Amino acid sequence: DWTPGAFIEEEVAKIRAQVGNARVICGLSGGVDSSVAAALVHRAIGDQLTCIFVDNGLLRLHEREQVERTFRAHLGIDLRVVDASQQFLDALAGVDDPETKRKRIGHTFIDVFEEAAQSVGDDVRFLVQGTLYPDVIESVSPTGGPSVTIKSHHNVGGLKPDMKFALIEPLRELFKDEVRNVGRELGLPEEMVGRHPFPGPGLGIRVISDVTQEKLDVLRQADAIYLEEIRSAGLYNEIWQAFAVLLPIRSVGVMGDERTYENVLALRAVTSTDGMTADWFHFPHEVLGRISNRIIREVTGINRVVYDVSSKPPATIEWE
Ligand code: XMP
Repeated sequence: DWTPGAFIEEEVAKIRAQVGNARVICGLSGGVDSSVAAALVHRAIGDQLTCIFVDNGLLRLHEREQVERTFRAHLGIDLRVVDASQQFLDALAGVDDPETKRKRIGHTFIDVFEEAAQSVGDDVRFLVQGTLYPDVIESVSPTGGPSVTIKSHHNVGGLKPDMKFALIEPLRELFKDEVRNVGRELGLPEEMVGRHPFPGPGLGIRVISDVTQEKLDVLRQADAIYLEEIRSAGLYNEIWQAFAVLLPIRSVGVMGDERTYENVLALRAVTSTDGMTADWFHFPHEVLGRISNRIIREVTGINRVVYDVSSKPPATIEWE
């Protein structure tokens, strides 16, 4: 029988045997997967582990601060934060194709991460990745032939071939709910373990069409209100993922005596067990109404909110 406790014990022994006295680095994204992977490896080898968090400027409101609090303050992990927001914005300037965005974000991440990794020291031999089972199967062709890319998830096999690190992927055979239980068993705070998944390219694929600082700021504000209202309605844990999407469409509205012509915001919320299939979440209408009112009133640049009622398949969870 699989239990988180037995899993941790077994993986800790494996990691210790694999690593010996070498130094290990881990890229933290702020999400559940990399957090649990980091905490597990930290349990095994303590301060032989250094974590690197790349602030790509595509994060949710206060996300970076939350990661710093959890990992540095709460877990006492050696954490280095690199602010590379401008580099990512530059790489995304004028790009509107979703796969090109992913590639640019992925490549920029690798450049920034490799530089940070080098600064940790010459004796780094291993890299921790929070790869899960669904990541593995969505990235590999079922026939073993050339893989059909649905979406290029840059957290699988994305580093350059000449990277000299061996991979530690302790979660490779787990599903999300199992990973959460491992995290709880490791003592990670519930606000971290229970977090909705968040994609590596972040808000970069939730600003539809080209990405700018201004659009990111608008989306970040709306997204924060959306999640705040979901939490205060007590619905956060019933939802697999909820997020806002800024559409490159303007619509006419009226505010006081003024005609407005501003952007449309789409809200997405889905239920799922592994992200591979999903249903749209049935919000109580009054909650949707409250969210919409607050966003339109409080966020300059949005005058209309719509709710996405598509399931996966045939729609994907993300819009890009
Ligand atoms: P889709 O949109 O393919 O998403 O239904 C399935 C799950 O994967 C996440 N996702 C990504 N995660 N890099 C990631 O790390 C990506 O490029 C990416 N694209 C989608 C998505 O948020 C959902 O949880």
